[in-house]
Order: sequence, then structure tokens, then C-alpha cells
Amino acid sequence: MGVTVAVHSSKGGTGKTCISVNLAALLALEGYNVCLLDMDLKAPCLCTFFNRYPKWWLNEYLDGKCDIDSILYDITSQFGTKGRFFIGLSNLDIAAVRQISNMDRKWQAKALKLLLEAKRSIFMNGVDVLILDTGPGVEFESVNAIAIADLVLSVIKPNKISYVCTEQLVKGVYMTLEKKCYLVENMCHMLSIDMSGKKEVFGLPVIASIPCICDIPMKNDTSIIGLTDPDHRFTVSIKRICRTIEEHIGKK
Ligand SMILES: Nc1ncnc2c1ncn2[C@@H]1O[C@H](COP(=O)(O)OP(=O)(O)OP(=O)(O)O)[C@@H](O)[C@H]1O
Ligand SMILES: [Mg+2]
Repeated sequence: MGVTVAVHSSKGGTGKTCISVNLAALLALEGYNVCLLDMDLKAPCLCTFFNRYPKWWLNEYLDGKCDIDSILYDITSQFGTKGRFFIGLSNLDIAAVRQISNMDRKWQAKALKLLLEAKRSIFMNGVDVLILDTGPGVEFESVNAIAIADLVLSVIKPNKISYVCTEQLVKGVYMTLEKKCYLVENMCHMLSIDMSGKKEVFGLPVIASIPCICDIPMKNDTSIIGLTDPDHRFTVSIKRICRTIEEHIGKK
């Protein structure tokens, strides 16, 4: 059985999607079979990133309208990775987003059951790592993603608001759901980065501190930095996260 990783944060714009995409691509490049799902159903963006607008979306799967295989796309040949690279996308059409926003607790409970079934099927098909790019905070979709995850990567920005809100998530969500959790600091000042590799915040290990680098937004818009710039500071940090995930593959 592979490992499921939810990339989450308390606030928006911490770099979850950027980290999820690069993590998935680098693990696939190294030979792992990877599946990346857009669990940010209220503000999806992976379809834009991969420039794919398919017939079937994760929305339809979670609504019981199709099976999981219908919404997974094999993009291995597009990026030439050694391992297989699959994506499952959420619909950014405003009507689809509104529909998700109107779903009640009962629908979300059913969606959680379907997510667990999807996970089982994805791993049965040989996937080693399932990466869930979530929305910020405690929306149902994000908590469902955390609930089915083995590991949570909580992305934190180096400011007081991010720290205070993340502490709430640690106590109120990650620990309540008994999740193994790691912190990733993103957009750090170069000079503030602790290189010892032993930093902890709220008793959780900080597995990477990624510097704030102004070429990331521009490069990330057109390519996957991890694949195009193997020596970029961002890529080096993502590889560090890969090593932690690697430790958990096969342990489940
Ligand atoms: N280390 C970094 N340095 C500079 N810019 C970064 C860094 N990491 C991410 N960014 C940029 O920050 C912006 C937000 O990143 P991203 O969309 O990945 O965040 P997010 O947490 O997924 O946001 P949301 O909560 O809205 O889904 C993007 O323009 C991205 O390229
Ligand atoms: Mg995002």
C-alpha cells in the first residue's frame, strides 16, 4: 500500500499547489508512480496549470456520477517521468464551484466514503504516492482530504498570523484526527533559514524551509520548476520533502 499526503495550510496562498505539483513531478521523475488530486474544489487550479479541461471531473466522481478511473488522466508522456504520473482535476466552472459550496454534511460524508474507495482503487493500480492539493482552512473538502491522508504537510508562512492559525489546526484538526504531520515553511527570508535540519514548531518537525524567490511565480506559471530547473533552490527544498515522504512509502 502506498502513502497518501495531504498538502494543507491554515491560510490561502502559502504555496500548497506549487509544492504539491513539484512534489508529485519529482517523485514521478525518481520512478515512483504518483497520483495528484485537486482537492481544492472551491478554488480549483490544477486544470489551468496542466491546461486540461476534461469531460469528467473529480466533482462528478464525488457526486457518484462516474467511477474513479474516468477522472484520472495519465500525463506521464507529457513530462517524460520514469514513474507513472496521474492527475485528477476539479472543475473551475463557477456553476460547479457553487454546487460544491451548496453541498450539505450528508453529501460530504458520502464524498468521504467515495474518497476512501478511490484511494483503495488508486493504490490497487500500482500508485505509490497519492498527493492531495487541498484548499486552506477547515472546509469539508480539506478536512476530508486530511482524514484519508497518512501524512499531512502543513505549509506555513513565516509570519505571526500563519503561526497562530496553524497552531489551531495542529490542535483542532491534525491531532484530533491522529495524523502524522510535518511542517513546511515557505517564502522564508534567506537569512532566517535554519540549516541544522532540527527545527521544530509546536512539537512538529519542520522538514523544509523554502526561501522566497521572486522567479518562482513566473516559472511556475509555464512549467514545473522541479523538472526544468533541477538545481533551483526551490527544487532542492522539494527534494528534501521527497526524502521524508520516501521514508513512509511501503510502511503502510
Ligand atoms: N517560495 C516561494 N517564493 C516565491 N513565491 C512563491 C513561493 N512558493 C510559492 N510562490 C508563489 O506564491 C503564489 C501562491 O502559491 P500557490 O498557488 O501554490 O499557493 P496555495 O497555497 O496553493 O494558494 P491557495 O490557498 O489559493 O490554493 C504563486 O504565485 C506561487 O508561484
Ligand atoms: Mg492552491
